[in-house]
Amino acid sequence: MENSKKVIFSGIQPSGNLTIGNYFGALKNWVKLQDKYDCYFCVVDLHAITVRQEPKDLRRRTLEVLAIYLAAGIDPEKNTIFIQSHVPTHSEAAWLLNCFTYVGELERMTQYKSKSKKYEDGNGSVSAGLLNYPVLMAADILLYNADLVPVGKDQTQHIELTRDIAERFNNAYSPTFTLPEGYIPEGGAKIMDLQDPTKKMSKSSSNPNSYVLIMDSPEVIRRKINRCVTDSVGVVKYTDSQPGVKNLINILGAVTGMSCEDIEAKYEGKGYAEFKNDVAEALIKELSPIQDKVNELLQNKKYLEEIYKKGAEKAYYVSSKILRKMQKKIGFIPVSR
Ligand code: TYM
Repeated sequence: MENSKKVIFSGIQPSGNLTIGNYFGALKNWVKLQDKYDCYFCVVDLHAITVRQEPKDLRRRTLEVLAIYLAAGIDPEKNTIFIQSHVPTHSEAAWLLNCFTYVGELERMTQYKSKSKKYEDGNGSVSAGLLNYPVLMAADILLYNADLVPVGKDQTQHIELTRDIAERFNNAYSPTFTLPEGYIPEGGAKIMDLQDPTKKMSKSSSNPNSYVLIMDSPEVIRRKINRCVTDSVGVVKYTDSQPGVKNLINILGAVTGMSCEDIEAKYEGKGYAEFKNDVAEALIKELSPIQDKVNELLQNKKYLEEIYKKGAEKAYYVSSKILRKMQKKIGFIPVSR
């Protein structure tokens, strides 16, 4: 029955190759939640162009991200899987919501502050898209009246802003939007950079040794984990004073479901070599079947097209209803379509 289940919306940007941060922070939880919720999983390509993308890379990565969703276990029969730019209501709603968002709020977003420093072009300019990006994210979520948004920790501020914008709109007119909650996983909420474990692991990092990609080969995974920065303490302990080791414990916990205490106990009295080796092998075991499936799916573009076309139709149908509600409340004259 439609609408009897609560709604989930989430998405990943095809702005770089996906990392295990995206996998443990988002994707793996989507797979767990898909049976209980009415889910919309989107490849958010409109978000990706907030920084310059090579067109052919963007096309390739967009399909690859879609294939990764499927290969990780998102069932296209149960969920709506689509590409954001195929559903024009997102851009339209983003404009409307921009008029209910304050510049000060956007300038306070930590991700904006760090990305605007990194992506300043030669003239010291930052695109308005980078500033407005959380409003597009709010549109994504509110257009489906999502109850739950499963994301990594770095997105919590954007979800809070989404709630503020929704509340402002609801108060200006009448209740229109559900106020969404974030769903942040326990273990994999923030996978850290392998070379600087005080920073978040990011697909846009310029140093490939700082991340493990979902599509990295076993040899590359072994090498990157083996070389990752730890410390000279030599004890596998879950503590902030050993951020590199803490990160590896989080990764191992996210793959195997083991608690930090169990992991500490297992490696008591052992050095880092065995621990690192086990982390690498656990990752390879988890990722290898996904990689095989992704490669198989990418050979079948017709199948992928069927899925994203069907997904876009459903997403457009659902989101248009909410967009029309917004337009009517704002005072636009309806056209019969
Ligand atoms: P993006 O593409 O940066 O990341 C996609 C998802 O992966 C999570 N993530 C991480 N989790 C744990 N550790 C990490 N190191 C790590 N790196 C990334 C992110 O938290 C995210 O869940 N704005 C979003 C995409 C988006 C979206 C939405 C999400 C657009 N519209 C609507 C939810 C709902 C983003 O840039 O994610």
